[in-house]
This record gives sequence, C-alpha cells and structure tokens, in this order.
Amino acid sequence: MANQEKITELIEKRAKAKMGGGEKRIDSQHAKGKLTARERIDLLLDEDSFEEFDMFVTHRSIDFGLDKQIYLSDGVITGHGTIDGRIVYVFSQDFTVFGGSLSETYALKICKIMDMAMKVGAPVIGLNDSGGARIQEGVRSLAGYAEIFQRNIMASGVIPQISSILGPCAGGAVYSPALTDFTIMTEETSYMFVTGPKVVQTVTGEVVTTEQLGGAKIHSTKSGVSHFLAKNDEVNLLLIRKLLSYLPSNNLEEPPVIDCSDPIDRLDDILNEIIPENSNKPYDIVDVISTIADKGEFTEVHRNYARNIVVGFARFNGRPVGIVANQPKYYAGVLDIEASRKAARFVRFCDAFNIPIVTLVDVPGFLPGTGQEYGGIIIHGAKLLFAYGEATVPKVTITLRKSYGGAHVVMSCKQLRGDVNYAWPTAEIAVMGAKGAVEVLEGRNISKIEDSDKKSEYIQKKEDEYTKKFANPYEAAKYGFIDDVIEPRNTRFRIIRALELLANKKDINPPKKHSNIPL
Ligand code: HXC
Repeated sequence: MANQEKITELIEKRAKAKMGGGEKRIDSQHAKGKLTARERIDLLLDEDSFEEFDMFVTHRSIDFGLDKQIYLSDGVITGHGTIDGRIVYVFSQDFTVFGGSLSETYALKICKIMDMAMKVGAPVIGLNDSGGARIQEGVRSLAGYAEIFQRNIMASGVIPQISSILGPCAGGAVYSPALTDFTIMTEETSYMFVTGPKVVQTVTGEVVTTEQLGGAKIHSTKSGVSHFLAKNDEVNLLLIRKLLSYLPSNNLEEPPVIDCSDPIDRLDDILNEIIPENSNKPYDIVDVISTIADKGEFTEVHRNYARNIVVGFARFNGRPVGIVANQPKYYAGVLDIEASRKAARFVRFCDAFNIPIVTLVDVPGFLPGTGQEYGGIIIHGAKLLFAYGEATVPKVTITLRKSYGGAHVVMSCKQLRGDVNYAWPTAEIAVMGAKGAVEVLEGRNISKIEDSDKKSEYIQKKEDEYTKKFANPYEAAKYGFIDDVIEPRNTRFRIIRALELLANKKDINPPKKHSNIPL
C-alpha cells in the first residue's frame, strides 16, 4: 500500500470511529434531547484541545454474534484536553454503540486514562450514558467495573473526580459515580438506580416509574446522590467547567487564585440590618453569602437537598473557599441527619483539596425526636464533628446569631481547631435557648406557683435574665472562644484578612493508616 493510501485508510478509519453506532442511532440520541459522546466532549473542553486515546480499540467478544458487530472505540471515547487551559482527562460513554454498555476493552480504556490522570495529577471527568455491563461479555464486564472502582478509590482525595449522568446509569455501574467527588444529573434524560422499576415490582410489588425511582430530581432532592441538577446536557457540561474553576488539579496543589476587581474593604451596610429583631424570625443565609463573596458569586452544591444547611464554593479576593452555612429559612437551620451528612462530605472534600472553609453559624441545635434518633443522628452528627476536627485547611468561622449546645461545638468552634472565630453582636452562644434553660433550671420553682399570670410573669423574668446573661457573644469572647466581635458590614474584609493570614497555615494530624470516621 502506498503511503497516501495508508493515510487515506487512517482518515477513513477515523471518520468511521467518529460515527459511533451509526447515523440512525445518532439521530435517535438527538431525538431524546441528548448530545452524542463526542459532542459532549467538544462542549466540555477548550476548543481543539481534545487528544483522543484508543480510538481503534474494539471488543474481543465472539459470542451472540458480536464478532460481526465491531465498532471502533467500542462505546467509550477517552482522552485528555484542557479546561481553562488546565489538563483534564475525560471518558464519554457512547450510547449509540451497544447502548454505551461496558465491555472488557471499554473498561481498560477508562482505566488507562485514570492511570494517566493519577500520574500527571489531573482531574478525571466521566460522562455517563450507559446500559451498564455488556450482557454478552458476562463476568469480564463485571471485572472491568471492579477495575474502575478500584481506581476511583485510589484516586479519591488525590485528584478531583467528577461524574455527569447524561442517560441511564443502572445496576452496579452507579457505584463509580458514587465513589467520585461530584455527580451532576440532567433533568428528564438521566437516571440512576441499583435495581430498575421491573425488578422493584417483582421483588417488592412496588410500582414506580424510572423518573420516580432514580430521576435527576429525586436524586437532587431526596437521596442527595446528585450534587447538581442541570436542565440539559449543555448546562450539565458547563457546570463541570465552573466547578473545576474552584479546584486544584490535585491534592498537592493550591486552588487557583484569580484576579479580583471587587474591593476587599467594601462595607456591606445591609448586613447590619439583616438579622431580624425577633431572633426566631428567618432570613436567607444565601443573601449573606452573596453579599460578602467576590462579585456576589456563589456556586451552591446540593442546593435542593437538606436545605437547612447550605454548602458551596465562592471566592474571597480571588481565593476559592468552601462555604458551610446554616440556613434559618429552612427548619430554622437545625442540624439533622441529612444536613450533617451533606456538610460533612463537603468539609472533607475541601480539606482533601486544600480549600479553606468559611463557616457561617446560625443554628438552634440538633433536631430532636425518634425519627432522628432511630435514624442515627448520633453517628451522622458525629460525621460533621469529625470532619471539622480532622480538617487542617484554614478554618474561619463567623457566628451570626444562634449557636447552641452540641451544634455550637460541631459548627467549627475554636476547640475543633477553628483558626479564626468571629461573632456578630447579634450572636447567641450558649448551652441552650432561654426557654429550654428556664424549664430545666426553674422547673421546681415554676411548679410551685399556682396563679397562672404570676407563673407567666416569673418565667418571662427568668427567660429575660438568661437571655441577658447568655444570649450574646461576649460570654464566649470572655474566654477567648470567640476571637473578636465584629460589625456585620465589615465581614467580607475580616474574612479576607483572616484567609490571607492563614494562607501559609500548616497543621498536621498524627500519622496513621487512616482515621475511622463514624460512617
Ligand atoms: C449490551 C445493550 C445493553 C447491555 C442496551 N444495549 N443495554 N447491549 N448490554 N447492558 C443495547 C440494546 O440491545 C440496543 O441495541 C441498544 O443498546 C440501545 O438499547 P435500547 O434498549 O434500544 O435503548 P432504550 O430503549 O433507550 O433503553 C435503554 C436501557 C435498556 C434502559 C438502558 O437498553 C436496558 O434496560 N438495558 C439493559 C440494562 C441492564 O440491565 N444492564 C445490566 C445492569 S447490571 P441495538 O443494536 O438495538 O441498538 C450491571 C452490573 C454492573 O450493569 C455491575 C458492576 C459491579
């Protein structure tokens, strides 16, 4: 074959590979409102930055007539490219080839780029759209999944791993996204479940649709499996780019600092008024976050799940931070099982990737009740406590209003190695609220008063006394548990200064194989 013929052959092979499972299946993919695996990569990465690996890989199966169905790339596109000029590795499952199902060689392609990503210290992005294990390949496919899971586990805390779910993701296949740091699901076209509706009906009798069982909305609101909900593929992929803008490429790097044109010393007068006179009235903590952060930008993680706590990324003077904040607008910002798990995972992610944590506290306590106790609030609350106490990144805590009891301790208090702990003058830091305290301390005296007016008067008097003595930041400040009481409008500046001060902070935990966080 002459050279030119060989080059033509290459060009033809490439063109064939790029057609995946063929035009008909590509049309069908588009008709479902989904992009193809290659279109997704193009949208995700910087223009012309994609370098593909293993385009000519095919499966090795001969059973069930597979020897007559050979597709170059074998259902997954892999390679590397850049996002905002930084290297990332990516795999994109191609539903047009055997429904994106995973064969032995397909798994090896994914493993290859994961190994490369680990060597060079770059994030791995997985774009999932697959019918799961390639049924014709049997146990070889299962082994392929296990190879990927093992790499997900080894990469955890070393390089960021992000999973987009853009179609089916079912059976054991769900565990790869679950092992990664963030999962982003597309509304209506994506779903995740361990067992599908048919199996559910056979085993439990429960009749449920795919969407009800594992749709994007369910996983973004009820289970928390999905961190973000995107309205279509495009939004999903752009979210990955945004998310990565806050993250270092690996655990040995610092998060990327960008130029900041937002004045660091602007005074936000609105914050001096944001806490309602009545301390039981709600306000929106997201308003506080967007007031103090650079240009009001806040990328909220898990926005629709456990809404009584808010977590997400923002920047202060160009420096990325993770924000954890109680949300008085939902259940008064109480800590419960879901909120504890959500925040604990986020704190651990930030700590693994050198992202400082800013905590905004307004928490009445832990949610009481059998539902919580039977569900193991003790274990789940301990997760958050553990995560904060173990974290060695800079930790800046601002107490805005309530900070009571165990919840006070958990929310990055001084003794959990909080580096800088400030409070607003409206802060109430105590063992419990006035009502509860008076019931416990004065119960005997109250029961002796027979006249109901006198009883109410006495209770009110005692509650006022308790409020005056304890519902303020100065008791804690007196002992140095709060470093300073600050004017709310100056919060942005004080946080920025604290973060600058802590930029070179070094803190270490004792050497050990690994900790034993209460799982
Ligand atoms: C081989 C598969 C496949 C699979 C789909 N296809 N899933 N081929 N192995 N797992 C093929 C179909 O034969 C079809 O081929 C093409 O992909 C598109 O599939 P359709 O069914 O036409 O598409 P759609 O109607 O959109 O339905 C998608 C689907 C359905 C819901 C994913 O295909 C399905 O239920 N597939 C099986 C899912 C499954 O049970 N997977 C195993 C899960 S257990 P043609 O040639 O017609 O285009 C598992 C274990 C992992 O994954 C364990 C890890 C530890």
